[in-house]
Amino acid sequence: MSNDPISPESLIQKLEWRYATKKFDPTRKIPAAHWEALEKALVLSASSFGLQPWRFVVVQDPALRARLLPHSWNQGQVVDASHFVVLAARRGMDSGDIQALIQRTAEVRGVDLEKLEGYRKMIAGFHQMADTQGWLDAWSARQVYIALGNLLTSAALLGIDTCPLEGIDPARYDTLLGLSGYTTLCAVAVGYRAADDAAASFPKVRFPHARVVEVR
Ligand SMILES: Cc1cc2nc3c(=O)[nH]c(=O)nc-3n(C[C@H](O)[C@H](O)[C@H](O)COP(=O)(O)O)c2cc1C
Repeated sequence: MSNDPISPESLIQKLEWRYATKKFDPTRKIPAAHWEALEKALVLSASSFGLQPWRFVVVQDPALRARLLPHSWNQGQVVDASHFVVLAARRGMDSGDIQALIQRTAEVRGVDLEKLEGYRKMIAGFHQMADTQGWLDAWSARQVYIALGNLLTSAALLGIDTCPLEGIDPARYDTLLGLSGYTTLCAVAVGYRAADDAAASFPKVRFPHARVVEVR
Protein backbone atom coordinates (compact mmCIF):
# COMPACT_ATOMS: atom_id res chain seq x y z
CA MET A 1 0.00 0.00 0.00
CA SER A 2 1.53 3.34 -1.02
CA ASN A 3 1.68 6.19 1.44
CA ASP A 4 2.30 9.67 0.13
CA PRO A 5 3.38 11.74 3.12
CA ILE A 6 2.16 15.24 3.78
CA SER A 7 4.82 17.83 4.59
CA PRO A 8 5.79 18.63 8.21
CA GLU A 9 4.52 22.17 7.64
CA SER A 10 1.19 20.90 6.41
CA LEU A 11 0.82 18.59 9.42
CA ILE A 12 1.48 21.41 11.87
CA GLN A 13 -0.80 23.74 9.95
CA LYS A 14 -3.65 21.23 10.27
CA LEU A 15 -3.01 20.66 13.97
CA GLU A 16 -2.91 24.42 14.57
CA TRP A 17 -6.15 24.75 12.62
CA ARG A 18 -7.99 22.32 14.85
CA TYR A 19 -9.36 23.49 18.16
CA ALA A 20 -12.04 22.37 20.56
CA THR A 21 -14.98 23.86 18.71
CA LYS A 22 -17.41 25.55 21.03
CA LYS A 23 -20.07 26.45 18.48
CA PHE A 24 -20.94 24.33 15.47
CA ASP A 25 -22.85 25.40 12.39
CA PRO A 26 -26.02 23.31 12.75
CA THR A 27 -26.81 23.66 9.04
CA ARG A 28 -23.61 22.02 7.76
CA LYS A 29 -23.51 18.24 7.50
CA ILE A 30 -20.47 16.05 6.95
CA PRO A 31 -20.62 14.32 3.54
CA ALA A 32 -21.24 10.57 3.83
CA ALA A 33 -17.82 9.57 2.41
CA HIS A 34 -16.03 11.78 4.91
CA TRP A 35 -18.02 10.44 7.84
CA GLU A 36 -17.41 6.90 6.64
CA ALA A 37 -13.67 7.63 6.65
CA LEU A 38 -13.86 8.96 10.21
CA GLU A 39 -15.68 5.84 11.40
CA LYS A 40 -12.95 3.79 9.73
CA ALA A 41 -10.31 5.94 11.44
CA LEU A 42 -11.89 5.02 14.79
CA VAL A 43 -11.87 1.34 13.87
CA LEU A 44 -8.25 1.58 12.68
CA SER A 45 -7.05 3.04 15.98
CA ALA A 46 -4.16 1.25 17.64
CA SER A 47 -4.70 -0.60 20.92
CA SER A 48 -2.54 -2.66 23.22
CA PHE A 49 -2.38 -6.25 21.90
CA GLY A 50 -4.91 -5.08 19.31
CA LEU A 51 -7.68 -5.95 21.77
CA GLN A 52 -9.89 -2.98 20.80
CA PRO A 53 -11.73 -2.80 24.13
CA TRP A 54 -14.14 -0.15 22.93
CA ARG A 55 -17.48 0.71 21.40
CA PHE A 56 -18.20 3.84 19.41
CA VAL A 57 -21.84 4.88 19.50
CA VAL A 58 -22.79 7.31 16.74
CA VAL A 59 -25.83 9.20 17.95
CA GLN A 60 -27.70 10.65 15.00
CA ASP A 61 -31.22 10.64 16.46
CA PRO A 62 -31.95 14.31 17.30
CA ALA A 63 -34.37 13.32 20.07
CA LEU A 64 -31.73 11.18 21.75
CA ARG A 65 -29.17 13.96 21.44
CA ALA A 66 -31.65 16.34 23.06
CA ARG A 67 -32.00 13.89 25.95
CA LEU A 68 -28.21 13.73 26.34
CA LEU A 69 -27.88 17.53 26.40
CA PRO A 70 -28.83 18.15 30.06
CA HIS A 71 -26.35 15.41 31.03
CA SER A 72 -23.60 17.17 29.08
CA TRP A 73 -23.38 20.42 31.02
CA ASN A 74 -25.82 21.73 28.39
CA GLN A 75 -23.00 22.06 25.90
CA GLY A 76 -24.60 23.02 22.60
CA GLN A 77 -22.12 20.98 20.58
CA VAL A 78 -24.10 17.87 21.54
CA VAL A 79 -27.11 18.94 19.49
CA ASP A 80 -25.56 21.33 16.94
CA ALA A 81 -22.71 19.29 15.46
CA SER A 82 -23.29 17.30 12.30
CA HIS A 83 -22.28 14.07 14.05
CA PHE A 84 -21.94 13.03 17.65
CA VAL A 85 -20.07 9.95 18.77
CA VAL A 86 -19.83 8.50 22.26
CA LEU A 87 -16.65 6.59 23.12
CA ALA A 88 -17.19 3.75 25.56
CA ALA A 89 -14.73 1.32 27.12
CA ARG A 90 -15.18 -2.39 27.69
CA ARG A 91 -15.89 -3.08 31.32
CA GLY A 92 -14.66 -6.34 32.82
CA MET A 93 -12.93 -7.70 29.74
CA ASP A 94 -12.90 -11.50 29.91
CA SER A 95 -11.48 -14.54 28.16
CA GLY A 96 -14.23 -14.29 25.53
CA ASP A 97 -12.79 -10.95 24.36
CA ILE A 98 -9.36 -12.53 23.99
CA GLN A 99 -10.80 -15.51 22.15
CA ALA A 100 -12.67 -13.18 19.80
CA LEU A 101 -9.42 -11.44 18.88
CA ILE A 102 -7.63 -14.73 18.32
CA GLN A 103 -10.50 -15.98 16.16
CA ARG A 104 -10.51 -12.79 14.14
CA THR A 105 -6.73 -12.90 13.67
CA ALA A 106 -6.95 -16.49 12.42
CA GLU A 107 -9.68 -15.47 9.99
CA VAL A 108 -8.07 -12.28 8.66
CA ARG A 109 -4.56 -13.67 8.36
CA GLY A 110 -5.48 -17.21 7.41
CA VAL A 111 -3.55 -18.70 10.33
CA ASP A 112 -4.49 -21.90 12.20
CA LEU A 113 -5.86 -21.33 15.69
CA GLU A 114 -3.20 -23.66 17.18
CA LYS A 115 -0.50 -21.36 15.81
CA LEU A 116 -1.99 -18.51 17.84
CA GLU A 117 -2.15 -20.44 21.10
CA GLY A 118 1.09 -18.93 22.44
CA TYR A 119 -0.17 -15.45 21.67
CA ARG A 120 -3.51 -16.19 23.32
CA LYS A 121 -1.76 -17.41 26.46
CA MET A 122 0.41 -14.32 26.59
CA ILE A 123 -2.61 -12.04 26.40
CA ALA A 124 -4.43 -14.19 28.97
CA GLY A 125 -1.47 -13.78 31.33
CA PHE A 126 -1.57 -10.03 30.90
CA HIS A 127 -5.33 -10.03 31.43
CA GLN A 128 -5.05 -12.04 34.63
CA MET A 129 -2.41 -9.69 36.00
CA ALA A 130 -4.48 -6.58 35.16
CA ASP A 131 -7.57 -8.15 36.67
CA THR A 132 -5.96 -9.30 39.93
CA GLN A 133 -4.12 -6.01 40.34
CA GLY A 134 -7.37 -4.10 39.76
CA TRP A 135 -6.44 -2.01 36.72
CA LEU A 136 -8.14 -3.88 33.91
CA ASP A 137 -10.90 -1.29 33.31
CA ALA A 138 -8.40 1.57 33.61
CA TRP A 139 -6.35 -0.14 30.91
CA SER A 140 -9.41 -0.37 28.65
CA ALA A 141 -10.08 3.31 29.22
CA ARG A 142 -6.56 4.23 28.16
CA GLN A 143 -7.06 2.45 24.85
CA VAL A 144 -10.23 4.44 24.21
CA TYR A 145 -8.33 7.70 24.56
CA ILE A 146 -6.01 6.58 21.77
CA ALA A 147 -9.08 6.34 19.54
CA LEU A 148 -10.17 9.79 20.73
CA GLY A 149 -6.88 11.36 19.66
CA ASN A 150 -6.98 9.51 16.39
CA LEU A 151 -10.45 10.84 15.64
CA LEU A 152 -9.49 14.45 16.41
CA THR A 153 -6.41 14.33 14.19
CA SER A 154 -8.11 12.43 11.38
CA ALA A 155 -10.96 14.93 11.30
CA ALA A 156 -8.53 17.85 11.22
CA LEU A 157 -6.73 16.31 8.25
CA LEU A 158 -10.08 16.23 6.44
CA GLY A 159 -10.84 19.84 7.37
CA ILE A 160 -13.55 18.76 9.80
CA ASP A 161 -13.97 20.29 13.24
CA THR A 162 -14.33 18.45 16.52
CA CYS A 163 -14.91 19.02 20.19
CA PRO A 164 -13.97 16.29 22.64
CA LEU A 165 -16.34 16.24 25.61
CA GLU A 166 -15.62 14.83 29.02
CA GLY A 167 -18.08 17.27 30.50
CA ILE A 168 -20.77 14.65 30.46
CA ASP A 169 -22.40 12.33 32.99
CA PRO A 170 -21.15 8.87 31.97
CA ALA A 171 -23.69 6.97 34.10
CA ARG A 172 -26.61 8.85 32.51
CA TYR A 173 -25.13 8.30 29.07
CA ASP A 174 -24.83 4.57 29.76
CA THR A 175 -28.50 4.45 30.71
CA LEU A 176 -29.77 6.57 27.83
CA LEU A 177 -27.70 4.62 25.30
CA GLY A 178 -28.58 1.29 26.88
CA LEU A 179 -24.94 0.27 27.16
CA SER A 180 -24.08 -2.99 28.83
CA GLY A 181 -20.58 -4.37 29.22
CA TYR A 182 -19.28 -0.99 28.13
CA THR A 183 -19.13 2.32 29.91
CA THR A 184 -19.11 5.84 28.54
CA LEU A 185 -15.86 7.79 28.91
CA CYS A 186 -16.21 10.78 26.64
CA ALA A 187 -17.87 11.96 23.45
CA VAL A 188 -16.83 13.88 20.37
CA ALA A 189 -18.96 16.40 18.49
CA VAL A 190 -17.91 16.43 14.84
CA GLY A 191 -18.90 18.92 12.15
CA TYR A 192 -18.09 22.45 11.06
CA ARG A 193 -17.37 25.51 13.17
CA ALA A 194 -19.95 28.28 13.19
CA ALA A 195 -18.71 31.47 11.50
CA ASP A 196 -19.12 33.32 14.79
CA ASP A 197 -17.36 30.82 17.09
CA ALA A 198 -15.05 33.21 18.93
CA ALA A 199 -12.92 30.31 20.16
CA ALA A 200 -11.67 29.70 16.59
CA SER A 201 -9.40 32.73 16.80
CA PHE A 202 -8.11 32.18 20.34
CA PRO A 203 -4.34 31.61 20.31
CA LYS A 204 -3.42 28.08 21.33
CA VAL A 205 -2.26 27.78 24.91
CA ARG A 206 0.59 25.28 25.15
CA PHE A 207 3.54 25.15 27.51
CA PRO A 208 6.88 25.94 25.90
CA HIS A 209 8.30 23.06 23.90
CA ALA A 210 11.28 22.66 26.25
CA ARG A 211 9.04 22.25 29.27
CA VAL A 212 7.21 19.36 27.64
CA VAL A 213 9.75 17.63 25.42
CA GLU A 214 13.00 16.33 26.86
CA VAL A 215 15.83 15.06 24.74
CA ARG A 216 18.42 12.93 26.50
C1 LIG B 1 -10.54 14.33 27.10
C2 LIG B 1 -10.96 15.74 26.81
C3 LIG B 1 -12.16 16.23 27.31
C4 LIG B 1 -12.59 17.53 27.01
N1 LIG B 1 -13.83 17.95 27.42
C5 LIG B 1 -14.29 19.14 26.96
C6 LIG B 1 -15.63 19.53 27.21
O1 LIG B 1 -16.42 18.84 27.87
N2 LIG B 1 -16.06 20.69 26.68
C7 LIG B 1 -15.26 21.50 25.93
O2 LIG B 1 -15.72 22.55 25.45
N3 LIG B 1 -13.97 21.17 25.69
C8 LIG B 1 -13.49 20.01 26.18
N4 LIG B 1 -12.19 19.63 25.90
C9 LIG B 1 -11.34 20.53 25.11
C10 LIG B 1 -10.12 21.05 25.86
O3 LIG B 1 -10.49 22.04 26.76
C11 LIG B 1 -9.14 21.56 24.79
O4 LIG B 1 -8.76 20.48 23.98
C12 LIG B 1 -7.89 22.18 25.41
O5 LIG B 1 -8.23 23.33 26.14
C13 LIG B 1 -6.87 22.55 24.34
O6 LIG B 1 -7.41 23.43 23.38
P1 LIG B 1 -7.54 23.06 21.85
O7 LIG B 1 -8.06 21.66 21.75
O8 LIG B 1 -8.56 24.06 21.33
O9 LIG B 1 -6.21 23.20 21.23
C14 LIG B 1 -11.76 18.37 26.23
C15 LIG B 1 -10.53 17.87 25.75
C16 LIG B 1 -10.15 16.58 26.01
C17 LIG B 1 -8.87 16.05 25.41
